Order: sequence, then C-alpha cells, then structure tokens
Amino acid sequence: MKIAIPKERRPYERRVAATPDAVKKYRALGYDVAVEAGAGAEASYPDDQYGAAGATIVPDTALLLRDADIVLKVQRPMNEGEGRNEAGLIKQGALLIGMLNPYGARGDLDIYASGHVTAMSMELIPRITRAQSMDVLSSQSNLAGYKSVLDAAEQFGRAFPMMMTAAGTVPPARVMVMGAGVAGLQAIATARRLGAIVSATDVRPVAREQVESLGATFVMVDNEETKAAETQGGYAKEMSDDYKRQQAALIAETIKKQDVVICTALIPGRAAPKLVTEDMLRTMKPGSVVVDLAVEQGGNCALSEAGKVVDAHGVKIVGHRNVPSRIAVDASALYARNLVNFVTLISAKDGGRLAVDWADDIVRAVTLTRDGGIVHPQFVQNV
Ligand code: NAI
Repeated sequence: MKIAIPKERRPYERRVAATPDAVKKYRALGYDVAVEAGAGAEASYPDDQYGAAGATIVPDTALLLRDADIVLKVQRPMNEGEGRNEAGLIKQGALLIGMLNPYGARGDLDIYASGHVTAMSMELIPRITRAQSMDVLSSQSNLAGYKSVLDAAEQFGRAFPMMMTAAGTVPPARVMVMGAGVAGLQAIATARRLGAIVSATDVRPVAREQVESLGATFVMVDNEETKAAETQGGYAKEMSDDYKRQQAALIAETIKKQDVVICTALIPGRAAPKLVTEDMLRTMKPGSVVVDLAVEQGGNCALSEAGKVVDAHGVKIVGHRNVPSRIAVDASALYARNLVNFVTLISAKDGGRLAVDWADDIVRAVTLTRDGGIVHPQFVQNV
C-alpha cells in the first residue's frame, strides 16, 4: 500500500505530516511512501532527505494522490469552494488522516463521505494512557506554550531574569499564565527557565499541584463550583456568571502587578473564556505584553486580534495565528511521530497493509466517515 504526504498549502502553515525519520518507519512497516516535492521545505526537511529515507518525490498533488491508499495531512485538505480541490483528488476507498477540524469544517465530512474516503481526525484521539503517544493536541500545545513565552520576550523591552550588574540591578519579569493545561504548564516552565517570577490560574483545582511543582504560584477562585469544573475527559467547563465575576476581580487584582500575561484558557467546543478586559489592560504597566494563544478560538483577551500585534493602552497584545507552525521543525517532528504511532496501531505487523480494528476505542473516537457515510456519533446526529 502507498502512503502519500502532500504539501500543506493553507496560509500560516509550515508544518509537514511526515519527516524523513517517519518515512523510514513507514518503510519498515512495509509501506511505499510518496512525498510531494517541497512538502517539508518550510519545516527544513528537504526533498533529498525524504529520498534518502526511501520515499519517491512526486512533482504535483494530483499525481501524488491518484493512487495513494493512505493520505497523511497536517490540516484538512482544501476543497473546491476554497479554490483548490485537494479533497476531490483523494481516490475512492483511501484513508485520510489529519487534523481535520470536524467541528469547524462540518461540511467537509459530506465531501469525504460522498467521495468514499475514510476520514480520521487526530484532534479526536481520546486522552487515555494508551493513546498518549498519538495525542496531537498535547504535542502541538506543548510547543505553542513554549513559543508563546519567546514571542512575549521578543515584544518585551525588558529582560526576564534578574541581573545584577555593575551598572545596577535588573528586576525579574513577572509572568502570569491563564489556563494551566498542556500549553500553560509549558509556558510556566519556559518562563521559569528564563528566570521570571511566575503565577498561574485555572478553574480546575487539580492544576494547583502541577503549577506549584513547576515553582510558580497558583491563584484561583476556589469554591463549591470548582469541585465540578473538570469534565471526565479532564477539560474545563464553562463557569457560572457569579464565578466569572469573582474570577474577574481576582485577575484584576493580580494583573496590574504583571509584566507579561500568557493566555491559554480554552473550553472544548465553545468560545474561549474572556479573562482579560480592556479595563484590566489599562491598569497594566506601559510596555507590558499579553500573548493570546486562544486568539483563534475568540481570545482570552478582549482586544487581541488574530494575526496581529495590537498596541492598546501601552500594552502589546500578541495574537499570532497557528503558533505550533512558528516552531515548525519540532512541531512537524512530534506530529509526525504521533501519526507513525497511530498508523502502526491500524497496520498489520507485516507486509505494509492496513488491519484496522474498527471496534478499538481509539479508532472509533477518530473515525468520521466510512463506506460512503458519516459514522461518528457526534456528527451523524446532525445530518
Ligand atoms: P485546554 O487546551 O482545553 O484548556 C487549557 C486550560 O485552560 C485548561 O487547563 C483549562 O482548565 C483552562 N481553563 C478553561 N477555562 C478557564 C477559565 N475560565 N479560567 C482559567 N482557566 C481556564 O486543555 P488542555 O491543555 O488540552 O488539557 C486539558 C486536560 O487534559 C488537562 O487536565 C491535562 O492534564 C489533561 N491531559 C491528559 C492527557 C492524557 O493522556 N491523560 C494528555 C493531555 C492532557
């Protein structure tokens, strides 16, 4: 069977779904691998490295996809309405694996179903121990959390660590992290490594121990409601208006003492909670920086704009899009490994062929379409 790796063409996307190292692993599983020319170029993986790893380099997407049995993508393929019909080039019966954004691009499911493409969405990998090595949300959020602190440092006109010099002492920067999930914890660790004094907040009380173990201070409104703030999957719920008011008062009090705020708070399937208001920004010192990693989900900060660095009340508000792609070499390497682990799960032990166990919890969680229809329970009901 043949695995194909197309070049990603969406704006702000520099990652690639397989590295040369991943190609070697697919070859070892017995698959033929074809890579579109230039697919890894923006992530510093040149064509010749893919060739050396055993892949065939194919000059264009149509040729690549014509006979591909498994198509590995970072983002969902473009469709006809987007001016480039990549989805329509995938052959009938093929398997498409990528971050297909089924909640945001529901209409694509019909395209996959009518094209008889089996579509599997990596964002839906369940957060269970067995699937950890395939968890793309974690691998990409972790790097985004790291990069967010460097993006803050770039905009910040001061240093992060305390420096005692002959010319005087530079005080350490004060960094506050909103949301202590995967990205937030890595942001805390990175800011600490740079020498900042770090605090963090979350609505899930279990985050306290994780935050404190990284040497940061945990601040939160802890009440009866927070006992049930975490879903079974470990995610946050939307909080009540009363909780939001109390939380806003706490953040307002804390934020005016901060130099840098890193926003990472998300609620699955909903708009990101608004945590930093314009009034709060007014109380921050001139030259402070807010990095809003939640900007593409509506933002945690009232004034952040996707793709822009906004200057408001003397505070720089950074809203870069697709932050994992800003660290494309490692983001590709980790994503590619997540895919290798998943493809290994659904492959036969020998002979380069699929052996999908459709009853497997991981497979069921990610499969959107199969045999010409939508099969995922979250989406089938809405047909
Ligand atoms: P996420 O990206 O959905 O949210 C980021 C953080 O924002 C979360 O910690 C969430 O509690 C917080 N948040 C939401 N609303 C907030 C508000 N109003 N104020 C302050 N903070 C708010 O979450 P992420 O990073 O994907 O992690 C979610 C959970 O999954 C965590 O408990 C994590 O430890 C767990 N996890 C488990 C894995 C496993 O395999 N067992 C793998 C990865 C994560």
